[in-house]
Amino acid sequence: MNKYFFPIVISLLAIVLTACVTPQRSQSTNVDTPAVASKATMVNDELTFANLDVVRTHHIDLMLNVDFKTQTLSGEAELSLNWFDASARELRLDTRELTIKSVRYLKQEAWLIAPFEMGPVDEVKGRALVIQLPEQASKVKIAYQTAPTASGLQWLSEQQTGSKKFPFMYSQSQAIHARSWIPLQDSPAIRVTYSARVNVAKPLKVVMSAESVARNDEGFHFSMPQAIPPYLIAIAAGNLQYQKMSEQTGIWAEPDILDRAVAEFDDTQKMIAITEALYGPYRWQQYDLLILPPAFPFGGMENPRLSFITPTVIAGDKSLVNLIAHELAHSWSGNLVTNATWNDLWLNEGFTSYVENRIMEEAFGVERAVMEQWLSVASLQRDLDSLAAADTRLKITLDGRDPDDAFSEVPYIKGHLFLLFLEQRFGREIFDPFVKGYFNKFAFQSLTTEQFINYLEQHLLQPNPGVVSMEEVEQWVYQPGLPANSPTPVSSAFEQVAETMAAWRANRIATGALKQVDWSVHEWLYFIESLPADLARRKIRELDRTLGLTESNNAEIQFAWYRFALTNGYREVDPAVAEFLKSVGRRKFIVPLYQLLADLSPQSKVWAADIYRQARAGYHPLAQQSIDKIFAGK
Ligand code: BES
Ligand code: ZN
Repeated sequence: MNKYFFPIVISLLAIVLTACVTPQRSQSTNVDTPAVASKATMVNDELTFANLDVVRTHHIDLMLNVDFKTQTLSGEAELSLNWFDASARELRLDTRELTIKSVRYLKQEAWLIAPFEMGPVDEVKGRALVIQLPEQASKVKIAYQTAPTASGLQWLSEQQTGSKKFPFMYSQSQAIHARSWIPLQDSPAIRVTYSARVNVAKPLKVVMSAESVARNDEGFHFSMPQAIPPYLIAIAAGNLQYQKMSEQTGIWAEPDILDRAVAEFDDTQKMIAITEALYGPYRWQQYDLLILPPAFPFGGMENPRLSFITPTVIAGDKSLVNLIAHELAHSWSGNLVTNATWNDLWLNEGFTSYVENRIMEEAFGVERAVMEQWLSVASLQRDLDSLAAADTRLKITLDGRDPDDAFSEVPYIKGHLFLLFLEQRFGREIFDPFVKGYFNKFAFQSLTTEQFINYLEQHLLQPNPGVVSMEEVEQWVYQPGLPANSPTPVSSAFEQVAETMAAWRANRIATGALKQVDWSVHEWLYFIESLPADLARRKIRELDRTLGLTESNNAEIQFAWYRFALTNGYREVDPAVAEFLKSVGRRKFIVPLYQLLADLSPQSKVWAADIYRQARAGYHPLAQQSIDKIFAGK
């Protein structure tokens, strides 16, 4: 059978089915408050227990108490429901490690008890909460408590924070961890508005991915008027201070790091203006950053109105601010236009990586943007070499797997390259308006890869015939690896670094002379990436003693250098590596380092396991889960 047959049939089916069941949305005049769908669209999200075909939540009201002593959130979640089937009475919700105390439903003015059952525990999905309603209630209220081990929360003790005086807690709901702190329909296919009232002991403060509307004796009040997929509901509590940067932007952080963060990220407003000029208005009013403790397992998380940011990008020289461009870009790609299922993650992350790079080009120049492309392609290449072929497709099939286990550079960088390929073929004068039109057309909706391809065909390929074929598109999306027509970023700055490297290797340049070069962090990263595997130990030591790489304070340089040094037996880095692993919890850095150490030699694995024993309690549950696997059986 023709290898394109299957995806084409699936796309056609998806299009036909969507056309049949997609309701006519009532056009809201205010772009920021989309109308609620009057009928359920088809969803095929295998990672939710929710019966979305018959009932959907459109608003969540939370009343929560943050208790650092028991490391739990407890309170109530009130879900407002739309029913699509007159005979349906059952409401199925997602939970994970939640203790459900009671379920009530609204009948006229009264809250009446509703019977419920917990389904069996599923390793990946958690546990269904199945509620039998005597009638189709418009509201259901669930009293519950989280577990201290909730996969979507991290509780940090005083010692684990910058101040060392106050504890800290925060959520990370993407992909399917919202259900570990709220009983809800945890699928990116639906959208909810939310409000919340949250209590915490003084003097701690609470922030959420929402507008802060009041603070009184009843706690911190929030309201999120824009409908968002549930994985974007977010909360944090700690000794937080706010500093405004501009009309629309500001930073929440613990006081010890606030000034440094403001200095590092003061281009944020400019980045918003750049993105608006390219892709239309920023639709979320405020854009703040929350600086998390170093244990945060990601670089950043695009929680709407309030991106969560790792402190490991505060390098002092703005060298890693592409992370801010990335999280901001999600305000269009991901938060506005959302992947319908986690198999379509590339629609979020590929577009975001592309937009991120366009922002960087505009803000810092084309050379920097190309250098960042080159470095990310190198990182993609490492993943392509190690992943199973099926996971190197843009549209993946999780097939019952945990989305956290299938996470890679593929949706990000292969997705970015696909969009760059289209941009280069069509030219920006055609491609930019197409992307802007796409964000507008699907604003506040979730869509599948097939819906995107259909839109692409109709709005880009067909109006500009003979530029890109559907076969090429389908190869990019459904076939493994990188197509032969993939763009290769060429950086003239890197070419010069390569020349210097060649001269140094041929002893035409002394190691000491490398101190004189005026290279950016990116050029140094390229230099480290291109160091030959057979470099003599003596040369490595000389390089390190001259340049002080082991002592670098730039997390990307540290990571690249430690990886090179360890791979090449230069174990003088060990104390610095141990320190790094104990102080940083970002998965992108620590998982590959532990993996490398475990693979190097049995002694090395024992050494790494010992560091892990000391560091584990400070890591996020997600990071623990990944690293436990490395040392399993020991
Ligand atoms: N949304 C992601 C983080 C994420 C993805 C969490 C999937 C859980 C599941 C975030 O926007 C992200 O991509 N962060 C990157 C930033 C980088 C590509 C600049 C990170 O954390 O490294
Ligand atoms: Zn992202």
